Amino acid sequence: MSSLIVVGAQWGDEGKGKIVDLLTDKAHVVIRYAGGHNAGHTIITGKGKYILHLIPSGILHPRKKCCLGGGMVLDPEAFLKELDSLGKRGVKIGSRLKISPDIHIIMPYHKTMDVESEKLRGKRKIGTTGRGIGPAYVDKIARTGIRLADLLDRDVLKDKLEYNLAEKNFIFEKIYGIPTHNAKAIYRRFLKYGRLLEPYIEDISRLVSDESRRGRNILFEGAQGTMLDVDHGSYPFVTSSSAIAGGACTGVGVGPTAIDSVLGVIKAYTTRVGEGPFPTELEGAVGEQLRDGGSEYGSTTGRPRRCGWFDAVIARYSRRINNFSGMALTKLDVLDTFREIKVAVAYRYRGKVMKEMPASLRILREVEPVYRTVKGWEESTSQARSLSELPPRARSYISFLEDLVGCSFQIVSTGANRKETIMVRDPFLK
Ligand code: IMP
Ligand code: MG
Repeated sequence: MSSLIVVGAQWGDEGKGKIVDLLTDKAHVVIRYAGGHNAGHTIITGKGKYILHLIPSGILHPRKKCCLGGGMVLDPEAFLKELDSLGKRGVKIGSRLKISPDIHIIMPYHKTMDVESEKLRGKRKIGTTGRGIGPAYVDKIARTGIRLADLLDRDVLKDKLEYNLAEKNFIFEKIYGIPTHNAKAIYRRFLKYGRLLEPYIEDISRLVSDESRRGRNILFEGAQGTMLDVDHGSYPFVTSSSAIAGGACTGVGVGPTAIDSVLGVIKAYTTRVGEGPFPTELEGAVGEQLRDGGSEYGSTTGRPRRCGWFDAVIARYSRRINNFSGMALTKLDVLDTFREIKVAVAYRYRGKVMKEMPASLRILREVEPVYRTVKGWEESTSQARSLSELPPRARSYISFLEDLVGCSFQIVSTGANRKETIMVRDPFLK
């Protein structure tokens, strides 16, 4: 038995979907622990392309159990839509999918708050996905949130909804000057969602504990990435959940000593969607080349992603915050066409070299990357099935990154398809 957390090492979109899909072969249960349908996990199988937002990427494997942990936030409409679209494509779900009763529900007024507060922030805007994620977590922390279990109890739902709407409608009317929400309509709709979701409810903490006692491999699927974590990311330009590996413990209800390994998924270059500092960002033709080569457009919002070189300061920081036992390098093939490749090995701030992530966002905004330039390999890597089959310069690039980060790659991905993968070492092995 082994339990493994797969976590994003950068600003999300590292290609976790493909890695989780691959590792599901060896797992019995796959559990998402944070975030909501702001995530977009793209998976390509023999049957085509799937984009999942809420349901764990393991769902495409028949017979594997998939769970949504209580650390997530759930938009019932988005969930039912995703379920329906999977069903239409022949993915059989049955009783394989389970949701924690503790999961907080994204209500229609959360979405309104998300969109309106972004407008109000003006140049301070975060660039959220506009799905109500932040405001749903605000209510969770404010202790006024509505949880899945509440949708099954008429009195509790009515009471909580009235209380919440009194406050939200006041804000909509007096501050944003927009129409208010109707309590009765929301009440009826969400009672119905409660009935539809009831068959999926299960205590996920207990399920995980039972499955691991039976000797099963457990896979925790991270969403977003370390730099978007609410505590350890580039605050305030972050999402509102615990995206780091530690979030799996709080978001599912498992003790830290029950986790065996942490796999950090890291792209061969860096991207970010939304606002906030990004030291290695490239605005010209090179950035375009990365964006086109890597199809770097948001799978949730379609926004073009900001692109830049690999940043070892971020990678090292991420290794420490998550205590990686190994890493997965993704999208190496996107660099196949580059004559020269740069890697930020440190930052320079007011003449001084910094090797560690600065605590202040203002400094992170002002730092200049210290680059090392390496020669590109300028040939295709997608056919390689072992490290020795890679062009020598691609191999050196990989070792260079390993030395800079202080951790080794267990998986190297050289394309979107399942077979375009080099499995160096099984991440489930302790
Ligand atoms: P929110 O999660 O919608 O509140 O957005 C907050 C920030 O996180 C924005 O910069 C989003 O673009 C970013 N973000 C949220 N989810 C993802 C994701 O899955 N991948 C990449 N960025 C994300
Ligand atoms: Mg994504």
